[in-house]
Amino acid sequence: MKAVEIKPDIYWVGAIDWGVRDFHGYITQNGTTYNNYLINDKDITLIDTVKHDFYSVTIENIRSIIDPSRIVNLVINHIEPDHASAIDAIMRLIPNATIYITERGKKGLDRYFDTSQWTFKIVKTGDTLNTGKYNLLFLETPMLHWPDSMVTYVKEAKLLISQDAFGQHIATAARFDDEFVECASLFELEDAVVDYYANILMPFGQLIKGKIADIVKLGLEIDMIAPDHGIIWRKDPNKIIQMYLDMAEGKAGLKVAIVYDTMWHSTEYMTIPLMQGIKDEGVDCKVIKLRATPMSVAIKEFWKSRGCLIGTPTINNVMFPSVSEFLYHLGGLRPKNRIIGAFGSYGWGGGAVKEAYDALKRMGLEVVEPGIQVQYKPSVEDEQKCYEFGREFAKKVKEYHEKLGK
Ligand SMILES: Cc1cc2nc3c(=O)[nH]c(=O)nc-3n(C[C@H](O)[C@H](O)[C@H](O)COP(=O)(O)O)c2cc1C
Ligand SMILES: [Fe+2]
Ligand SMILES: [Fe+2]
Repeated sequence: MKAVEIKPDIYWVGAIDWGVRDFHGYITQNGTTYNNYLINDKDITLIDTVKHDFYSVTIENIRSIIDPSRIVNLVINHIEPDHASAIDAIMRLIPNATIYITERGKKGLDRYFDTSQWTFKIVKTGDTLNTGKYNLLFLETPMLHWPDSMVTYVKEAKLLISQDAFGQHIATAARFDDEFVECASLFELEDAVVDYYANILMPFGQLIKGKIADIVKLGLEIDMIAPDHGIIWRKDPNKIIQMYLDMAEGKAGLKVAIVYDTMWHSTEYMTIPLMQGIKDEGVDCKVIKLRATPMSVAIKEFWKSRGCLIGTPTINNVMFPSVSEFLYHLGGLRPKNRIIGAFGSYGWGGGAVKEAYDALKRMGLEVVEPGIQVQYKPSVEDEQKCYEFGREFAKKVKEYHEKLGK
């Protein structure tokens, strides 16, 4: 793939990683891209690098426009290795270039590389860089999603180069939203946005709202958003901003995700009447077996749904390992505005369902107690109780959904 002009003299020069399926533990079923951008102005400027494996790909893309050794400015919006690990190879080509980076970005970069011979210009929100006909404005976005993160706004192009924000893990020949929707579908695109948000950005809703408000206050006109993963938003940048505002508010579908695991199917048998009860209350329901589902997919389905039921058998007095792993990881993502309960099968003393509730309460979620437990395989009566609990839970989900008004 060659460079793609996204605005006059501004090019996508990134790499498509069709093969990556495990991105730091996050399952990328559709691969991803590492986007970086070249501004071919009087002072040639590269914004971000790529993952080191793709160094020669980005260099060839740059070479299709200019001789890479002519780059004089390198902007590093984020030091995470998927964007910055090619930096040392690139700096060998352009040893005299100036690196524009936040203070915390520089400190982090010092941990990864020997930066002693590189020239840095530390930037903060409001600082600018003139490249000739273009003026770049830097905006720090600390903890979105690393302390060093910032975004770069190209004023005359009304272009926001947004780093990880607004990105999606999709490897595709399409570079733009409209192209992707034409060759794939809007659903796939939205699903990838939610997947990324749920797994990477869920803890940062308040910060996201604040940062979007800052951008509005600054009156920046945006007619294109170019993230560092996936497609570029050219047709409808407001769509992705609205999606982020909705997710930052904790918006979810009127749905229930039943997330469970099982050793000998008893907990699994409970999911059938539970699902039926939920469905009979007019609430959509998806059942996710943890050992059959990548963690990041289970997190996404949780996040899409207003309600969730956690199912776990008892093993050695505690939860089944995959369920405790899920809840442990979910706790770190600090979910909000979700209503949740638990169920499971046990043999003698039990303990797993109580442990699940303890974990859910620690997360501060709206909890429906006491859930439902059965001994060994559910009987016909147990199944009826599960059905009733499913209905009750779905009613509570509807009430809670209405109360939140979203
Ligand atoms: C290795 C193992 C350890 C277990 N430990 C406990 C336990 O500590 N307390 C308990 O009540 N049941 C215990 N059980 C029994 C299971 O909780 C019971 O068989 C339950 O029905 C399993 O549900 P499942 O079919 O959904 O896996 C244990 C079962 C196994 C296989
Ligand atoms: Fe990142
Ligand atoms: Fe990234």
